[in-house]
Amino acid sequence: MTVVMDNVVARETRHVLQTYRRQPVTLVRGQGVRLYDADGREYYDLLSGIGVAALGHAHPALARAIADQAQTLIHTSNLFYHPLQGELAERLAALSGLPRAFFCNSGAEAVEACLKFARRYWFTKGEPRREFIALDESFHGRTFGALSVTSDEHYRGPFEPLLPSVKFVATNDPAALAAAVSTSTAAIIAEPVLGEGGIRPLTPAFAAAITAACAKTGALFIADEVQSGLGRTGHGFYFQALGLAPHLVAVGKALGSGVPIGAALVSQQVADAISFGDHGSTYGGNLLACRAALCVMTELVEGGLIGHINRVGPHVEQRLKAIAAKHAIVKEIRGAGLMWGLELSRDAAPIVPAGLGHGVIVNRTAERVVRLLPPLVITETEIDEALGRLDAALGAVEAGE
Ligand SMILES: Cc1ncc(COP(=O)(O)O)c(C=O)c1O
Repeated sequence: MTVVMDNVVARETRHVLQTYRRQPVTLVRGQGVRLYDADGREYYDLLSGIGVAALGHAHPALARAIADQAQTLIHTSNLFYHPLQGELAERLAALSGLPRAFFCNSGAEAVEACLKFARRYWFTKGEPRREFIALDESFHGRTFGALSVTSDEHYRGPFEPLLPSVKFVATNDPAALAAAVSTSTAAIIAEPVLGEGGIRPLTPAFAAAITAACAKTGALFIADEVQSGLGRTGHGFYFQALGLAPHLVAVGKALGSGVPIGAALVSQQVADAISFGDHGSTYGGNLLACRAALCVMTELVEGGLIGHINRVGPHVEQRLKAIAAKHAIVKEIRGAGLMWGLELSRDAAPIVPAGLGHGVIVNRTAERVVRLLPPLVITETEIDEALGRLDAALGAVEAGE
């Protein structure tokens, strides 16, 4: 370890609450899909800060927009109008088909807002419903509401009791879902592609079961697109690929490409049930965050980024298939667009340091899955170089190096 690394670790160990087990790397600079550590070592970033840096690092248009906004006006609170929230909400409505947005600062807050708005919908109707149906292996965030619909006992256990009225059903089991949903269900919540759960897309049969259960019982559907939304899979949102029509959609991560912003997008039916004062956030949707998000939306739509993802996505798939064919430890690859998981026959944890050793950043999720969420701007040449490094890292782990 270098002196810089020693100082950083020593200071953090003394003063930063130890909730994260970090990799022993101090990243100081980025350019496009590349990151650089304090010693100047280069890494190909196949994770983009867990699906956040959609435009890559130091994107010129985003950097200009943030600098310009910082020199103009950063924050005013939601006590006043400003020109950017409505514009961003309009752009999100065009991409999602849901006409209204509530802005917040993170994915967990977007999920919290969706849960509260679903409860409020039934309260306003005069027939309160409390129950939420969520999926096994789901992840929706760390706040109490979002944690209550997150299945992993490891995350939940120390903080119980959580919301009492949550039932979990097996992912992609249409019969289990149909049996669980009733006229007591306020909402079903699901990630159209389970992210932390190992990059597992919902099946068309399960999507059809969600639609049928909602039609039968009146239950609302909340699509958590925090990880899978905003072009990541080559679709504006993955619920669209599944033919789902959610009443609420949670968005975060890529929306600000690194500037914290989240949103709950709601149908008109839900919006009609919400009153002044029902929910709020001091920072939510401030000028700086909206300006960054507008830049992301412009790149996605006018800049042709969604088209780009649809062009390079199949290339990633083809390369991953070749890697899977070569390495016996890779059992399956799953995903779409630029959201991929390689399920291994063993714990995937050693792939992360092996990747760092070969100059590529990936992450492990659901124990056996290597997760890839590269910046959406990644080119075919960069994909080839980065996956070549991942190939070498898998080989090293396989060889027991
Ligand atoms: C699907 C999903 N929902 C919600 C969250 C929580 O987002 P945040 O960490 O921004 O609160 C995450 C984070 O990984 C996520 O993947």
